[in-house]
Amino acid sequence: MSSKKVQFGVMLHGPGGHMNAWRSDDVPSDASTNFEHYMNVTKKAEKAGFSFVFVADGLYINEKSIPHFLSRFEPLTILAALAPITSKIGLVGTISSSYSEPFTVARQLASIDKISGGRAGWNVVTSPLEGSAYNFSKDKHPEHSLRYDIAEEHLQVVQGLWDSWEDDAFVRDAENNQYFDKEKMHELNYKGEYFQVKGPLNIDRSKQGQPIIFQAGASKKGSGFAAKYADAVFTNGGTLEQAQDAYKDLRQKAVDAGRSADDIKIFPVLSPIIGETDEEVQKKYKEIQNLVTIEEALAYLGRYFDHHDFTQYDLDAPFPELGDVGKNSFQSTTDEIKRRAKENNLTLREVALEETTRETPFMGTPEKVAEKIIEWVDEQAADGFVLTPHVLGELYDDFLNKVIPILVEKGYYDTSYESDTLRGELGLKFKENRYSQRVNI
Ligand SMILES: Cc1cc2nc3c(=O)[nH]c(=O)nc-3n(C[C@H](O)[C@H](O)[C@H](O)COP(=O)(O)O)c2cc1C
Repeated sequence: MSSKKVQFGVMLHGPGGHMNAWRSDDVPSDASTNFEHYMNVTKKAEKAGFSFVFVADGLYINEKSIPHFLSRFEPLTILAALAPITSKIGLVGTISSSYSEPFTVARQLASIDKISGGRAGWNVVTSPLEGSAYNFSKDKHPEHSLRYDIAEEHLQVVQGLWDSWEDDAFVRDAENNQYFDKEKMHELNYKGEYFQVKGPLNIDRSKQGQPIIFQAGASKKGSGFAAKYADAVFTNGGTLEQAQDAYKDLRQKAVDAGRSADDIKIFPVLSPIIGETDEEVQKKYKEIQNLVTIEEALAYLGRYFDHHDFTQYDLDAPFPELGDVGKNSFQSTTDEIKRRAKENNLTLREVALEETTRETPFMGTPEKVAEKIIEWVDEQAADGFVLTPHVLGELYDDFLNKVIPILVEKGYYDTSYESDTLRGELGLKFKENRYSQRVNI
């Protein structure tokens, strides 16, 4: 790990993490496709020494989707645009393993990795929404468990292709007219159930060896997949105890999969609300809560359950019994919503409104938010955080200008970079090429 005891990434999520962030005066209302906005947020993050920016993605929209998802940038395209105007910060984007060809994904990410000098990362998602199938000439969306089986093969192919060329394969010796060393070019010849890929890939490796693998699925199958393959994992956060449980569980699963617990870095979501007094914090919280109507909150909730129609239920009755609804989409999120509703005896109205603007432990004065961050790191709940301000305006600036300096002063954070690759910055080892022979003398 670098001298940073805590690391940060920021979610480049158009106007912010809140479903109606676009309505805030604090951000351009077209933020999701406003390149200037993306540049500003990214440049601020790099100035503050953040380890990465992260661009999330989905493959299906309808009129009930989160408004700022209706028109937004494709992740790799925006990362390619950000690469030459940055020099240290990691560039992480979501690509679905259910709706892409591994050869294309390997090639695109390897290109970003080389353009940026070893700063690329891939958030591997399996796509939760059924409608995605109809955008990709498929009749049926693969079910949850199958999606992770496909993801496993997909990732094996991508990582295999990334090693097509050993690091010194391209000799480019003009005098002797030798462009490459054939011994150092490798075909993959992968023959799986879902993918058959010969290789080699037509691009070589970057300064960090291979792009970093991020994952965010928290179902049993999702966290098993993450434990086996991910270098870094996004979690939903919740309470300190929930984050500690997720942290411990994932690290143990990594060990069970034959890895070291420290091979996997865990980044809960952090949506801060900062004020000088409790009243100011509550005022800001209410302002954000009031960005939605109950109808919009129901649509937001419904999306997690694959656009389930919640308007059919009584708003003020206990949260409805949903059986298996949600199991094939955002499984872990919907399980958690059902559990919380039951445990706290919540009505549908309460669940829907709470879901759009969750209260978090990171609400308070700058000192309190900094203390919470330190507590989470010291108490083994996080290695870092993916900052997801409800609105990517003042809430973000407050964090950078007020919380970061406290963390620096307390020796938990450093705004300089330890490494100019994402792998190095996250304290992860260079990814050796599987074919390279290391001779230990
Ligand atoms: C910080 C964070 C970012 C995420 N980004 C995406 C994303 O970009 N696209 C996506 O489809 N799901 C995203 N997810 C959701 C998960 O990747 C996953 O799809 C979802 O939890 C369902 O998987 P599961 O059933 O295994 O939990 C994200 C989750 C978190 C916590």
